[in-house]
Amino acid sequence: MDWGMKNRLSRIIKPKDGRTVMLAVDHGYFMGPTTGLENLGETVKPLLPYADVLMLTRGALRHYIPPETDIPICLRVSGGTSILNETNLLHEGTVVSIEDAIRLNVSAVAFSILVGQPFERDTILGMTEYIDEANRYGIPVLAVTAVGRGLGKDAKYLSLASRMAAELGANIVKTYYCENFEKVVETCPVPIVIAGGKKIPEKEALQMAYNALQAGAIGVDMGRNIFQSENPAGMIKAVRAIVHENATPKEAYQIFKNEK
Ligand code: R5P
Repeated sequence: MDWGMKNRLSRIIKPKDGRTVMLAVDHGYFMGPTTGLENLGETVKPLLPYADVLMLTRGALRHYIPPETDIPICLRVSGGTSILNETNLLHEGTVVSIEDAIRLNVSAVAFSILVGQPFERDTILGMTEYIDEANRYGIPVLAVTAVGRGLGKDAKYLSLASRMAAELGANIVKTYYCENFEKVVETCPVPIVIAGGKKIPEKEALQMAYNALQAGAIGVDMGRNIFQSENPAGMIKAVRAIVHENATPKEAYQIFKNEK
C-alpha cells in the first residue's frame, strides 16, 4: 500500500484507536431533500466538531460546506436512481469521475453495491472499475452494501455482501447491523462501519452502535439517527463516546440527555 493510500486511510480511521465516527449526509442523491437535511449546511455545522469524517455528495460539498472546513471527506461517487424508481432502486453506477473526486480533495470515495438483485452485476462491476481508478491515485474506496427490498438484513446476507466487497477490493465496508454481527465482522478482512438506517429512538440507536462496536465494527457511518434526532449535537456526542471512549449505552444516553 502506498503512502497516499495509507495517509488517506488514517484520515478516515483514526490511528489513535483505529475507530471512526462518520457523519453520513449523502441521502439527497436518491432521496432529495431528506427530513433534517433541507438546509444541509446549517444541520451539519454544529455537528462537525464531533465527526471524524463527513460523507456526502459533490453537490452538497460544493453548495453547503465552506472549502476551509477542516474535516476529511468521504465522497459518494455512485448513484443514478431515485426512491421513486422502486424496481431499480439502488441500481447504481458512477456519478462522479475520479478526477473530480481528486479536485475536491477527498480522503475516500463511497460506492454502493446491491448483491442479490437482478442488476447486481452492474453495481459490482461499477464498483470494481472505480476501485481500479481510485487505486491508481491512492484513494480508499468504502463499499456500501445496500439492502434492497426482499433481501434480509441478516448475518448470512450481510456477511456474503461484505465479504464480496472486500474480496473485490474495497478498503472499508459499510453495512447494516444485525443479530450475530460478529459473523459479518469475522468473515470480512477489511474494517467495517455500520449505517444507522431509519430513525429509531435514541436509546435504541445508541445500543445498536454499542453492539456493533462490541462485535468488532470500527465505527459508524450514521446519518438519520443523528440529524433527525430531536437533539443532533447530543446524539453525535453520545455516539462519539461509544466509539472513542468505550462508553456504555447507558452512559452515552446520559450524554445525550445532558446535552438537552
Ligand atoms: C445510503 O446508501 C446512504 O449512504 C446513507 O448515507 C447511509 O445509509 C447512512 O445513513 P443512515 O444512517 O441514515 O442509514
